Amino acid sequence: MTTTIPTASVLRPRAEEQYAEELAYLAETDDRPRPPGWRLSPWAVTTYLLGDGDRITPKYIGPRRIVEVAVATLATDRALLLLGVPGTAKTWLSEHLAAAISGDSTLLVQGTAGTTEEAIRYGWNYARLIAEGPSREALVPSPVLRAMAEGRLARVEELTRMPSDVQDALITILSEKTLPIPELGEEVRAAKGFNIIATANDRDRGVNDLSSALRRRFNTVVLPVPATVEEEVEIVARRVAQLGRALELPEVSTGLEEIRRVVTVFRELRSGVTADGRTKIKSPSGTLSTAEAISVVTNGLALAAHFGDGVLRPADVAGGIVGAVIQDPVSDRVVWQEYLETVVRDRADWRDFYRACRDVC
Ligand SMILES: Nc1ncnc2c1ncn2[C@@H]1O[C@H](COP(=O)(O)OP(=O)(O)O)[C@@H](O)[C@H]1O
Ligand SMILES: [Mg+2]
Repeated sequence: MTTTIPTASVLRPRAEEQYAEELAYLAETDDRPRPPGWRLSPWAVTTYLLGDGDRITPKYIGPRRIVEVAVATLATDRALLLLGVPGTAKTWLSEHLAAAISGDSTLLVQGTAGTTEEAIRYGWNYARLIAEGPSREALVPSPVLRAMAEGRLARVEELTRMPSDVQDALITILSEKTLPIPELGEEVRAAKGFNIIATANDRDRGVNDLSSALRRRFNTVVLPVPATVEEEVEIVARRVAQLGRALELPEVSTGLEEIRRVVTVFRELRSGVTADGRTKIKSPSGTLSTAEAISVVTNGLALAAHFGDGVLRPADVAGGIVGAVIQDPVSDRVVWQEYLETVVRDRADWRDFYRACRDVC
């Protein structure tokens, strides 16, 4: 049994709840052809994701072509694989795609080393199975099976973390668009509108590589890391503002300057060279992705709002940055100290930040 909590008080509303108005507006004004089972045309889905500079806010910030290819793929008989390093919005994009296309982003399978075939096919309510024998009522459908029956999108997160034989359960589903249930002597056939969006992490490559049979059922779209500092600052500023509103943090004035500094530090450490291209530096072991920058700034805002003077200061982000950079207490500390003393210290307008970082460790 599930208890319903009013949307306004849930901690994290689903995309289709949070952006219900935008989706309704698009559905009303969208006069382009919609693929069978789709709530919106591919054009309107793309507008929902990228924004229209007016009533529709951008969700994904990045090349338009990438979004168009992703959306177009879902209208074909191939599934979509979003590939990229951590923090490139794979999960985020897949949630919004499912929300815009199916009006439902909840049909989700989380891939882990422990994911079983039941999570992709179906399981049983054993009490009923033993009492009544196999029946439709005793069957517990997976999110994928429900998506097939309802003609919606199913999401498979971290596909390549699942054992290969479990991944391969998707082959029949994607090629035949049916799922046999031998225990009942029947099969579930996918309704129009069904497809799968999977995500996979570049760093997991080689863990459980996709079999070639499965790979052929997917179109792969690689999500890039933000091309420029400006683009990354925009992503962070936008997401931080949204998160701050959702968490109902007291108003804090965020100079873009502080955000730009966090982004610059992360980009320099990630790429192993300073922004001006002059100084080589070592990279730490962790992934300093856009997602981490967002969380460092959000934490900084909470500090500034509750313990500071309502303005985001270097001291509010220093702790978060150091924590994100130093994952390995020995080797990353060396990398960080070197960066601090050879790069940060020499920047005239980074004095406060340098001091704040020195205070942390
Ligand atoms: N290009 C981008 N556009 C919008 N948001 C982004 C972008 N890149 C990263 N983000 C933000 O970063 C956060 C983490 O993204 P996530 O989807 O969890 O990454 P991944 O699944 O690729 O590891 C999300 O809050 C997302 O909004
Ligand atoms: Mg993810």
